[in-house]
Amino acid sequence: MVSATESVGPFTLLRLERGELEPGVPGQFFMLEAPGRVLPRPMSLCQAPHGELAFLIDPIGPGTRALCALRIGEAIHVLGPLGNGFDLDLSRPLLVAGGIGIAPMPYLAAALGDPPAILGFRTEHHAEAAGLLPGAEIVVEPRLVTELLQDDPGDVLACGPEPMLEAVRRRVPRAQLAWEARMACGYGACYGCVVEIDGRYRRLCVDGPVVRDAA
Ligand SMILES: Cc1cc2nc3c(=O)[nH]c(=O)nc-3n(C[C@H](O)[C@H](O)[C@H](O)COP(=O)(O)OP(=O)(O)OC[C@H]3O[C@@H](n4cnc5c(N)ncnc54)[C@H](O)[C@@H]3O)c2cc1C
Ligand code: FES
Repeated sequence: MVSATESVGPFTLLRLERGELEPGVPGQFFMLEAPGRVLPRPMSLCQAPHGELAFLIDPIGPGTRALCALRIGEAIHVLGPLGNGFDLDLSRPLLVAGGIGIAPMPYLAAALGDPPAILGFRTEHHAEAAGLLPGAEIVVEPRLVTELLQDDPGDVLACGPEPMLEAVRRRVPRAQLAWEARMACGYGACYGCVVEIDGRYRRLCVDGPVVRDAA
């Protein structure tokens, strides 16, 4: 059941009562029923306050717009946590995110003890979402997150659009990257999320979103 909704720049933070669901490992995702749509939509867990699961949603199409339009007290079906999250056994974590790729970062930052973070956004309005990750360095286009990466940036954990992930990987081949694909089932049954990564076809819902042995 929806416990609250908050505007965060152009995005909506949708807070749901947790019920029996576990929050899982940062980087894992949940399939959220999108009212009026046949298929659920994959969403990364953004925050896990006591008794709640919170998702940051970019209203880019009918499913995400329906989720952002939910009202307090409405109920939706939620499945998860699903997929592979980030490996958190790191000595020098650095979070890197672009756009709605900020979504899994607050939960990840909480698990890692608030490590440094670099965030990139298309506009100042989108950059209002940086308020979810206090202390992060922020760039707004035409500047790019890769401009802020040092020569030895540490253990990079990244989420964002594919060109950003590719650019981060060129600079930091060992970076952990959370990839995206369209998903229908979320648990390996439909093959709708198959993508080619380094010449191998992967079902991103079960082999990702954080693909361990992609390099
Ligand atoms: C593991 C995972 C975690 C995600 N976490 C979040 C999140 O925390 N917050 C959030 O806002 N979004 C997240 N997404 C993306 C979100 O699921 C899609 O934006 C949503 O399903 C689009 O549905 P729609 O009906 O609104 O738009 P559609 O009509 O389905 O799509 C609108 C446009 O976006 C494109 N598109 C849709 N889905 C994707 C995708 N997965 N990758 C690339 N392009 C796509 C379409 O081609 C189309 O151009 C995540 C996706 C994945 C796979
Ligand atoms: S979404 Fe169905 S197999 Fe991945």
